[in-house]
Amino acid sequence: MTMRPVAVKKLKTVPEAEHLFDTHPEIRLDFEHVREALKQGYSKPFLLVDTNIVRTKARRFKAVMPRVQPHYAVKANPEPRVLKALIEEGVGFEIASIAELDLLLSLNVPAAEIYYSNPVKSRAYIEYAAAKGVEWFVLDSVEELRKIHSVKPDAKLYVRIEAPNIGSDWPLAGKFGVKNDEVDGIVAEAARLKADLAGVTFHVGSQCRNPENWRVGIQSAKRVFKKMRLAGLKPRLLNIGGGYPVRHVKPIPSIEKIAEVVNHAIRDIPQSVRVMAEPGRFLVSDAGYFVCRVVGTATRSGKRWMYWDAGVFGGVIETTEGLRYDVATDRSGAAIPWAVAGPTCDSVDVCMREEMFPEDMQEGDFIYIANAGAYTTAYASNFNGFPLPEVRVI
Ligand SMILES: Cc1ncc(COP(=O)(O)O)c(C=O)c1O
Repeated sequence: MTMRPVAVKKLKTVPEAEHLFDTHPEIRLDFEHVREALKQGYSKPFLLVDTNIVRTKARRFKAVMPRVQPHYAVKANPEPRVLKALIEEGVGFEIASIAELDLLLSLNVPAAEIYYSNPVKSRAYIEYAAAKGVEWFVLDSVEELRKIHSVKPDAKLYVRIEAPNIGSDWPLAGKFGVKNDEVDGIVAEAARLKADLAGVTFHVGSQCRNPENWRVGIQSAKRVFKKMRLAGLKPRLLNIGGGYPVRHVKPIPSIEKIAEVVNHAIRDIPQSVRVMAEPGRFLVSDAGYFVCRVVGTATRSGKRWMYWDAGVFGGVIETTEGLRYDVATDRSGAAIPWAVAGPTCDSVDVCMREEMFPEDMQEGDFIYIANAGAYTTAYASNFNGFPLPEVRVI
């Protein structure tokens, strides 16, 4: 189909005062590419990704934290063309499953360079990963320590400790992370088993807008290193996890600001300790525009509702925890509050309860979500029979 002329209207802009938080310029995919992509037609939601931006972000990350080796969290966007760009930039990887492992192996990533950072893994998955040559495995319980050790006694292990998730738009605390007073039991059991517990990791929460979380996490890790040495273990890995944010509508600290905190906090870590991170969102979000369409509108109890062809099950899920995207449309009507839902029949498929959009939004209108390269297509399912969004790569 042909697209009518687009006059992109930014619905939300960052208020002047909030820019003061960090004025570092952030990169964004040029909207002209979206116009071009739409000229090729539209049959279902798509994510347009520019791998040059992925490369730029990888270089920026390495430049500001020279001691910290990035290992991309594949879960953020497992698109092979994204992975290839990152391989070429010398980025390593962390995985959550053996499907992600197979994907990386098919791209010739050495298994020994892949970190299995999912804290609770099935025995079958550990066996498979070990057989394929994965050496590093995370744990955050005595049970997982024993499980990995029984499958692979020479595994290199790292313990995930609790870290503050204050100021993170997608918190990850609670489900994982050993509490301070529980780490001693894991260290003691590793020493007893003669397991190679060699590292510490933490996650400050995704889209973390508070650099202090990294400082506290690194300090806690240093305390665990001390305990490990006292128990006769040989710590040699500090993994400072993911969480590096990208700009949507809320202010963020730039990677340069976060690097100031991290570089200072790791300055006294011996060179024998490898320092790595697991950025996901930071490397891919800015590289992508997510495009979907309004399938219908309705008024319910006086409130305007808009139904998109991609909702919570189709890629637009992160809004449900409070993340706010920068969304544009082609309409120019006065902004009014809308509820935004996905196309499925499920009542949890509501992306936004009250967001400002032009009052004249209608069936067929396009929706353009900026900086949406991470955790959109990666989350999407075929629930209710709706098609998965496609990934178009520039
Ligand atoms: C273990 C682990 N590492 C890294 C990441 C990547 O986090 P982010 O995309 O916020 O950088 C995640 C995200 O859930 C994770 O679970």
